[in-house]
Amino acid sequence: MSDDAVDEPVREATREEIADDTAGIDTVDRTAHLEGAQDAILVADRLRAGYLPDVDILFETDLYAKKGELIGIIGPNGAGKSTLLKSMFGLVTVRSGHVEWQGETITNMKAHQLVPRGVGYVPQNNNVFPKLTIEENLEMGAYLRPKTFQERFDFVCELFPTVAERRAQQAGSLSGGERQMVGMARALMMDPTLLLLDEPSAGLSPALQDEVFYQTKKINSTGVTVVMVEQNARRCLQICDRGYVLDQGRNAYTASGEDLVNDPKVIELYLGTLAKAR
Ligand SMILES: Nc1ncnc2c1ncn2[C@@H]1O[C@H](COP(=O)(O)OP(=O)(O)O)[C@@H](O)[C@H]1O
Ligand SMILES: [Mg+2]
Repeated sequence: MSDDAVDEPVREATREEIADDTAGIDTVDRTAHLEGAQDAILVADRLRAGYLPDVDILFETDLYAKKGELIGIIGPNGAGKSTLLKSMFGLVTVRSGHVEWQGETITNMKAHQLVPRGVGYVPQNNNVFPKLTIEENLEMGAYLRPKTFQERFDFVCELFPTVAERRAQQAGSLSGGERQMVGMARALMMDPTLLLLDEPSAGLSPALQDEVFYQTKKINSTGVTVVMVEQNARRCLQICDRGYVLDQGRNAYTASGEDLVNDPKVIELYLGTLAKAR
């Protein structure tokens, strides 16, 4: 051991210094994106999108998912995480860039075109029909394939026992967390190949959050490719294969979930005390 290191004054790095330190995980790396995207099932490439004219929320945002991957998207509030999911489900107009799914360009396709192509989407809010019962909500989910209703219903009930128990209850009377589960269950009724989940653990008790992460992993293990947005960043990175950190509509970091969750910069900026102060 060298004596030189002993008297270094200890000082907390500032946010700027951490962000400037490019050692470790690469920041925006188009080369790695293009390479990974080559055999991906889902590719979002250089997406520019926004809600108001001339105001972009996403700035050349990239994402890809390989078949069967569980992808996490984390980042501060307002970073554009939901917008990125919406831009892949035709809910916000993509102004430039493109989205590809199973080799087909699906940029700006709408839900009615995407659902038959195996894409399921569960929004963070308004994810159930409140006047309908749970079972009716699930019937709506299976409207394109009514013949497989029973089979899918059984699958979903096994995954979400509460759904089975409360099948006759009006969805509007459920808690936010229970609605989120019904929303997920409804998307699963179509037997999707890709599931886009927007903050499935939001508003849930710690025990229910555990359940949702477990269920998401379980759904993924049946072969469904999952892209999940989460505020619960640490938990999300712990279960996902790869993660994307979005910041102000831009790709900030991307790596395996494990590398991200253990990266000092990511911890400091997005998982640690600075992240909380934001
Ligand atoms: N419907 C909308 N109309 C106008 N601006 C919106 C709308 N939805 C979101 N935004 C804005 O887009 C930005 C990104 O929002 P969002 O994608 O919801 O962030 P996140 O999901 O990362 O919290 C925010 O500045 C937000 O105010
Ligand atoms: Mg959001």
